[in-house]
Amino acid sequence: MKKQVTIVILAAGLGTRMRSKKAKVLHEAGGDTLLNHIIRAALEVAPAEHIVAVVGHQAEQVRASVTEPIRFAEQTEQKGTGHAVECARSQAQTASGLLLVLNGDGPLLRAETLRRLVEAAESSDGGAIVTTKVSDPSGYGRVVRDANGLVAAIVEQKAANEEQLKIREINPGLYCFDAGLFWKYLDEVTPNNAAKEYYLTDMIEILRRHVHPVSPMLVEDESELLGINTRVELAAADKILRARKTRELMLGGVTIENPDSVTIDVQVRVEADSLIEANVQLRGRTHIGTGCRIGTGSVLRSCEIGDDVTILPYVVAEASTVRAKASVGPFSRLRMNADADEGSYIGNFVELKKTKLGRGSKASHLTYLGDATVGENANIGAGTITCNYDGQKKHQTTIGDGAFVGSNSTLVAPVTIGDGAYTAAGSVITKNVTEDALAIGRARQEEKQGWARRRRQTAQPVLTKT
Ligand code: UD1
Ligand code: CA
Repeated sequence: MKKQVTIVILAAGLGTRMRSKKAKVLHEAGGDTLLNHIIRAALEVAPAEHIVAVVGHQAEQVRASVTEPIRFAEQTEQKGTGHAVECARSQAQTASGLLLVLNGDGPLLRAETLRRLVEAAESSDGGAIVTTKVSDPSGYGRVVRDANGLVAAIVEQKAANEEQLKIREINPGLYCFDAGLFWKYLDEVTPNNAAKEYYLTDMIEILRRHVHPVSPMLVEDESELLGINTRVELAAADKILRARKTRELMLGGVTIENPDSVTIDVQVRVEADSLIEANVQLRGRTHIGTGCRIGTGSVLRSCEIGDDVTILPYVVAEASTVRAKASVGPFSRLRMNADADEGSYIGNFVELKKTKLGRGSKASHLTYLGDATVGENANIGAGTITCNYDGQKKHQTTIGDGAFVGSNSTLVAPVTIGDGAYTAAGSVITKNVTEDALAIGRARQEEKQGWARRRRQTAQPVLTKT
């Protein structure tokens, strides 16, 4: 690519057919918004400062949903795609070079196709547009070719005559114009149609009239060009994006059992030689190291999983870290920066919230650890509960290295259990425990000899039904 490329993404429309209060480009497929998918592809052909998104409906939310430092232009009233590009004129700052215009509702677009479009435009006078042939062209603008195979015009469905309606070659909404010519003639677009809109597609005919014809670039795989108008199409795009993702991971060395059953967001990374069982969901920017096994039914969102970790079935984890060789689950929950250090072990029905479990420490069964720091090689007995909340404030629990917390201990925070200390099973621990001590906080057991026998003798006989 020799010429400078500026990209304008049209994202101001509401998308009435979505039947949503939310702007169309904010809807998600494959774990990200429609707009972010297009921005990612756009970034492969131009730097962020040369990308302008035209926003209108829910402009604030749309801006906030974009993490890349691109530019924005505002179209306060939706007067059509031609008007939308006009709104980006000052932000786009391109007197020369190429102007790539993309509809904001096509999340399946590949960067490779954009690169090819730019190359096609470089060797053409007015520019180039992508076209594709579809079995059902209804709703799309039809591509009318001239005798030389160049694009004579794009005719919108509403304006098409009977002959034109039969054309199966359509405009998917990807254009690359000579920027100088485009801005020079954009004023010639008028809302002279049934919808009273400024159609960007009119530019093809206008440029041609000024003897700067636009070349078509036919793309065979129409699935990549799917524009989302309804939630049915949204689901179709989601399915394709997820299939692409599992394929990418498998080709990268990850084993996925029953790949159709897993839900993996586009930004997830998994290193080679990890195995993902059926029905797993990996969401957000989750990263999984090498040699891991992720058990069926587990849902991991924005988690960092080290190497050789075992996640047993049905673990739900969010914004948490599990370090190398640790094991979690089945049926455990990690949230709010829970951090299970190397070789630690979290068993069934254990919840960790804002808690650090040190190297080699174990919480094997039925435990809640909230706002706690557990040292190395500690053992947290079954049924241990940190009482971290007093109804107003959260308090910290600290458990030292090598501590042994007896089963069913109730740790009333703020409280510290020293290194190597024990708490007796069933204790309610309200005071700090010194290192290497044993703390017992429970009623002493009493025994009443013969009590049960005496009770049986004096008890009323139980009435039985006759
Ligand atoms: C458009 C094309 C049509 C093409 C189809 C492909 C025009 C006139 N028609 O039709 O030839 O086959 O896309 O999907 O361009 N938008 C704005 N501001 C507006 C209007 C639209 O930003 O005032 C944005 C929308 O948010 C959307 C994109 O432009 O991302 C396309 O708009 P849409 O209304 O879906 O165009 P179509 O009628 O589908
Ligand atoms: Ca559309």
